[in-house]
Amino acid sequence: MADGFSPIRWSDGELLLLDQTLLPEQEVWLHCRRPEDVAGAIRRLSVRGAPAIGVAAAYGLVLGAGDFGAAYDLLLSTRPTAVNLRWALDRGRALRDRVVEGGEGKQLRARLLAWARDLHQEDIEANRRIGAFGRDLFEEGDRVLTHCNAGALATAGYGTAIGVVEAAWSAGRLASVWVDETRPLLQGSRLTTWELSRLAIPHRLITDNSAGAIIARGWVQKIVVGADRVAVNGDVANKVGTYPVAVLAARHGVPFYVAAPLSTIDRGTASGADIPIEKRDAEEVVHAFGKRIAPQDTEALNLAFDVTPAELVAALITDAGVLRPPYRESIAEAFSGRGDPGH
Ligand code: MRU
Repeated sequence: MADGFSPIRWSDGELLLLDQTLLPEQEVWLHCRRPEDVAGAIRRLSVRGAPAIGVAAAYGLVLGAGDFGAAYDLLLSTRPTAVNLRWALDRGRALRDRVVEGGEGKQLRARLLAWARDLHQEDIEANRRIGAFGRDLFEEGDRVLTHCNAGALATAGYGTAIGVVEAAWSAGRLASVWVDETRPLLQGSRLTTWELSRLAIPHRLITDNSAGAIIARGWVQKIVVGADRVAVNGDVANKVGTYPVAVLAARHGVPFYVAAPLSTIDRGTASGADIPIEKRDAEEVVHAFGKRIAPQDTEALNLAFDVTPAELVAALITDAGVLRPPYRESIAEAFSGRGDPGH
């Protein structure tokens, strides 16, 4: 999966998405022709990961240019936690407003397409910068642990946490990767392992509940994960199971890093308590490997994300550099350098 791999493609007026629900057994590309197709793909996690959801939604607006408002609302309703979704949709809406006010409504679809392509490319470039900044935090021989999948599959390409892993590996600063399997949908066992084997980076899969045993033995020198939303105080929402890893890291003095582009930092969210946490269908928990594993009458709770408080985060590795606590200040400074109004 060297340079240029993206789970998202635009071809002949269609959005093609690599169906992540079928990996690693099958590599099937979904053809989306309507915003409804894109919304369905986001809901069932055929396309997933905060930046990838944002870019897919941008192309969804292209497909829905004829009834822009309906496409915007539909796409926004798909998943609540990853802020890149709203970030991309709001940018698309601002462009629509400019195009319509400028009397160029007939060109709306073409203008949206050019914009979505730029967004796609910008995300890959942001991830490469994250990788280059993150690489310098690693030392030869380091073993890193990661949770969920924050690789090329979760972005427009290259990945955030796995982009850092790839950059550290290429620089000779990494020995191997521990991959949490990430129950219930197994993004670690199915997707991160798939990516790391394609990158030929040594890795070993562990059950989520092994992390404590592995860290306590001194077998983990760094932890790096992605994010779905970072609040202005530095609190981080990411795949459920991230918070316990951060607590373990603090207990054992292992640096816990979060890799994310500025598009994942929500300046409209004051703290983690304000981040909406997606609850998914209990069926995902009571089933495993295609069959029911809990008794018929068992009720389950399926929180898709948790919040790691800023005090447990050693650094945020962003496309604008490595941000350190206090995050309120370092985040504000990262945005001020951009001339970018952000959220
Ligand atoms: O439910 P998912 O698979 O979309 O959750 C994905 C994650 O939690 C990722 O770590 C996050 O979106 C960052 S992806 C670069």
